[in-house]
Amino acid sequence: MNTIQLLGCGYAHPKQHIDNHYLESIIDTSDEWIVQRTGIHARYVATTETTSLLAAEAAQKAIEDAKIDKKDISLLIVATLTGDQPMPSTACLVQEQLGMMDQRLMAFDINAACSGFLYSLQCACAMLKENECALVIGAENLSKIIDWSDRGTCILFGDGAGAAIIRKSAQGKNVWHFAQSKGDPKRVLDIPGKTLSDQPCVNVDEAYRYLSMDGKEVFRFAVGAMEEAIHQVLEQSPWDLEAIDLIIPHQANVRILANVARHMKLSMDRFYVNLDRFGNTSAASVPIALAQAKAEGRLHEGMKIILVGFGGGLTYAASLMEL
Ligand code: ACO
Repeated sequence: MNTIQLLGCGYAHPKQHIDNHYLESIIDTSDEWIVQRTGIHARYVATTETTSLLAAEAAQKAIEDAKIDKKDISLLIVATLTGDQPMPSTACLVQEQLGMMDQRLMAFDINAACSGFLYSLQCACAMLKENECALVIGAENLSKIIDWSDRGTCILFGDGAGAAIIRKSAQGKNVWHFAQSKGDPKRVLDIPGKTLSDQPCVNVDEAYRYLSMDGKEVFRFAVGAMEEAIHQVLEQSPWDLEAIDLIIPHQANVRILANVARHMKLSMDRFYVNLDRFGNTSAASVPIALAQAKAEGRLHEGMKIILVGFGGGLTYAASLMEL
């Protein structure tokens, strides 16, 4: 059993905030359609901000919130599917931007799409030794892999970063994890009639530059996956759903969350929602929501929270944390 302290959180976003009315001017859509089908009103879109820059800003805020010396951090994980470049890792770039080069530190990236932060948190909890701290970040620049002429996808996504500092400690609280991969990308995330390249890094076909998905299939998968992940972490713990104070879910579509809530007979008040302002920021979405919930005073000692997400891969995961 891990006993972990959640010491601090932070988030960052690009300056540019694009609302649905702006999208009306570039594609055939409407504010009404986007709000009704997704709950999204606006999203942040990077111009000059890189993934590592957003990640470092969120990390700096998390370090300040945690009131620790950054020298105490021995593990730095960045969850991202839109790192600055394949190599060096975005985690190493963040290490450099935070001035953490001259300390004992292991830094690497994880790609589990929108479940990436939860996969990273689980890895960090497993890897930390007693009294060691980890900086776990989710950061994305999804706008760079979005086809801005595809109204089926471009309305959904946004850019940003969220970060958390955790410490493994005997004074910490219990945390339970669940993670699953389905390994079936063609079913929902590929374009019908096209095959995946053996060497995606050297594939220059324009079609592969952009994120594509079967929205309806992802929707169906997401509802079942989130429900299963919540049940799986609860089963490991001594708690039932009633004992959970707040669920901080991946922010993809408010209708996905409403379906999960309805199936689980939960009020929507039990879910933290910020997708109206951020859209889907993939690996950044759960840590941004966690940091915002903390900044708004929604997290208190003694609470039990569930972080839960799903994403490309297909992947899904959840963590139940006592605060
Ligand atoms: N504006 C106006 N009309 C639109 C738009 C738009 N932006 N997009 C689609 N439409 C139209 C369609 O063309 C269709 O028209 P038709 O009936 O004349 O054919 C109609 O609206 C309905 O389209 P659907 O695709 O059936 O709409 P749906 O209710 O399924 O909503 C959505 C689409 C929002 C994409 C939804 O399926 C969804 O949120 N899916 C989950 C996506 C997700 O969470 N992805 C994250 C995983 S990806 C990753 O991990 C990186």
